Amino acid sequence: MRRALWALVLTGAVACAGHEEAVRGEPGTHLPGLTDAQVTEFFAGQALFNKVFTPEEGLGPLFNENQCSACHTDPAIGGVGGFERVIKATRFEGGVCDYLSHEGGENVRKRATPLLQAHGVLKEEIPPSATERGLFITPPLFGLGLVEAIAEETILAAEDPDDANGDGISGRAGRTPDGRLGRFSKKAELATILDFVEGALRFEMGLTTPLHTEEETINGRPIPPDTDPAPDPEADQRMLELLSTFVRYLVPVAPTSVRSAAHADTLARGRQLFEDIGCTGCHTPSLRTGGSDVAALHHKTVDLYSDLLLHDMGPGLAGVCGFTASPTEYRTEMLMGLRHRSNLLHDGRAGTIADAVMGHGGEAQRARDAFASMAFLDQYFLLQFLQSL
Ligand code: HEC
Ligand code: HEC
Repeated sequence: MRRALWALVLTGAVACAGHEEAVRGEPGTHLPGLTDAQVTEFFAGQALFNKVFTPEEGLGPLFNENQCSACHTDPAIGGVGGFERVIKATRFEGGVCDYLSHEGGENVRKRATPLLQAHGVLKEEIPPSATERGLFITPPLFGLGLVEAIAEETILAAEDPDDANGDGISGRAGRTPDGRLGRFSKKAELATILDFVEGALRFEMGLTTPLHTEEETINGRPIPPDTDPAPDPEADQRMLELLSTFVRYLVPVAPTSVRSAAHADTLARGRQLFEDIGCTGCHTPSLRTGGSDVAALHHKTVDLYSDLLLHDMGPGLAGVCGFTASPTEYRTEMLMGLRHRSNLLHDGRAGTIADAVMGHGGEAQRARDAFASMAFLDQYFLLQFLQSL
C-alpha cells in the first residue's frame, strides 16, 4: 500500500506541477521535435566537434587539445572528459578579478605545436602576477540549449543576495564583462553558448575567430611569426554557429527508469530528503524555458537541478576568480546526468557523490551538515536518488 502510494507520488509529481514532462533522452542524441533541417545542422556541428584540427588549419601555436571531443567525450560526444584538467590562474585583489591577459590570460595552455616547440616553447607558464590557480574538469554539455532558453527573469527571480529569507543561502547572478547575465561556465561569466564556443576555440584549441582575429600571446609575448601558417580567422562564423547548434540541440540525459515499486519508493524518499535538508536551495530541480524560435526549445521543462546562480562555497573549494565571482564562488553545478560522471566538484577532487556533498561549505554548510548527520538509511535513499540522475 505504502509503496504503491510512493510510486503514485513519483509519477504524479509532474502532473501536479501542471507541466508537461521534462525533455530528456539518451546521452549524445539530439532534442526531440527538431525539423529535418535542424537535425542536419546538429550532425554537421557534431562532425566539427569531432574534427581533429592540424596546425595548418589553425591549431595552436599554444593549445590544450586538438578537438572539442578530446575533452567532451564520456559517455557520448558532448560529455565529460576523463583525466583532462584545464589549468587556470587569476589575480584577485580588492574584490576585482584580473584574468591577467597581459601575461597570457587565465587559461594556461599546456601544449605547443612543433613550429612553436622549435623556438623552445613547450607550454605556457603560470602568469607571475597570479594570486590563485586552479584546475577545472570538463563538464557535460547535454541539455545546454534548454538552459540557454530559460528566460532571464526566471533566473533572476531566485536571487537573494542579502539572504532576506534567512536560509543561509544568498545566490546572485553572475555577469559578463559587458553586463549581460552570465549563466554559463563554473564562474557564471558567459551569456550564450556561442560566446562559450568562441572562447573554447581560441583558448582550448588556439584558433582565431571573426571576433578575435589576432593570436593569443605566450605569457604576454607575441608568437614568433613563422609559427602561425593558417590565414586568420582560422574559424569562420559558420563554424562557430554549427558548433553552437550542435551543443544547443543536445538533449538532457534522462534519469534511470524505475525498476520496481521498491525502487520507486527509494527514489521518492531520496528526492524528498534532497528537498528537506536544503539541497534544492541551490539545486533547483526544474526550470521552464521561455519563448524560442526553435520549437524544440520553446516553453519546455528542463530538470537541470541548478538555479544557475553564484554561491560562496567556503575556503575548502577556493580556486580562481571569475569576472563577478570571488575565488570561493561557483555557479551551482547542474546535476542532470550525474550518474555518468566519475570526477566531481570543479577540479574533480571528489570520486563519489558522498565525497562531493561532504566537500560543500560556505552557503551550503547547513545542507552538508544535515547530510553528515543523517541516519544511514536516509543517506542511502538520498544517494540512490542522486545516482539515478
Ligand atoms: C582541453 C579540454 C577542453 C576542450 C578541448 C574543450 N573544452 Fe569545453 N570545457 C572544458 C572545461 C574545463 C570547461 C569548464 C570551463 C569553465 O566552466 O570555465 C568547459 C566548458 C564548456 C562549455 C560550458 C559548459 C557550462 O556548463 O557552462 C561549453 C558550451 C563548451 N565547453 C564547449 C566546447 C566546445 C564547442 C569545444 C570545441 C571548440 C570545447 N568546449 C573544447 C574543457 C574543454
Ligand atoms: C549553497 C548552494 C548549494 C547547496 C545548498 C548545495 N549545493 Fe551542491 N553544489 C553547489 C555548487 C556551487 C557546486 C559546485 C562546486 C564545485 O564545483 O566545486 C555543487 C556541486 C554538487 C555536486 C557535484 C556535482 C559535480 O558534477 O561536480 C553534487 C553531487 C551536489 N552538489 C549535491 C548536493 C547535495 C546532495 C546537496 C544537499 C546536501 C547540495 N548539493 C547542496 C551548490 C550547492
